[in-house]
Amino acid sequence: MIEMNRVNHTFAIGKAGKERKVPVLKDVTLDVREGEIIAILGRSGSGKSTLLNVLAGFMRPESGSILVGGREVSTLSESAMADFRLAHYGFIFQNFQLMPGLTAAENIELPLKIKGIPVQERKRKVGELLAQVGLTEVAAHYPNELSGGQQQRVSIARALITDPPILLADEPTGSLDSETEQDILHLIQSLNRKLGLTFVIITHDAEVADIAHRQYQLHDGELVKGEKRHAV
Ligand SMILES: Nc1ncnc2c1ncn2[C@@H]1O[C@H](COP(=O)(O)OP(=O)(O)OP(=O)(O)O)[C@@H](O)[C@H]1O
Ligand SMILES: [Mg+2]
Repeated sequence: MIEMNRVNHTFAIGKAGKERKVPVLKDVTLDVREGEIIAILGRSGSGKSTLLNVLAGFMRPESGSILVGGREVSTLSESAMADFRLAHYGFIFQNFQLMPGLTAAENIELPLKIKGIPVQERKRKVGELLAQVGLTEVAAHYPNELSGGQQQRVSIARALITDPPILLADEPTGSLDSETEQDILHLIQSLNRKLGLTFVIITHDAEVADIAHRQYQLHDGELVKGEKRHAV
């Protein structure tokens, strides 16, 4: 479903004219099959977020290819990539990134509004997702009236509402206590099993990596296949 082949990415740092080039992704090769949960582990600064940003097309790699569903995406124009992203990817962030002025239901609904989906269909879909992530009772709450775990459920529902086949998550449980973390991990596992969704999860947490079917490790921009601690 996703094949990254010898992807390189370099940041230029320092003043214009005096830049220093810092390679952050070095010949990264990654394959993700449909319906898999993949965890990418690595220390702070190893290039995890950069890898996810390149995969999502927010940054263009310096070299290498990225095939998603057999299609080369690393050469798409910015607007073609934006369309591709909307159709194929849902995003889950460490800090939820909810709109503070919108209720849980309205946050979940937002991507459909942007897509111009009629109101009846939007409401139906939002109701479905609220039930799926167990938030029906707090649909009218604003983010600051929700716990961290509930906020992450809202953000997961928002990521799912456009029916993307692939979910990209950067430290999805990084802001949660360990009990709430387990909750969110169970939700991810059940979405993976019931809906066959593919997850690429960036983390430095072995608990998160334990729900993955396969793991990779990033060491200073080099990606290697990792060993699991024990079977799920
Ligand atoms: N826009 C940028 N310009 C220059 N250097 C950058 C930029 N973004 C990231 N870097 C550098 O690239 C390296 C990898 O950063 P990245 O954010 O991918 O790490 P990470 O593994 O996600 O770390 P963390 O676990 O702390 O989130 C770091 O050394 C960082 O300083
Ligand atoms: Mg990061």
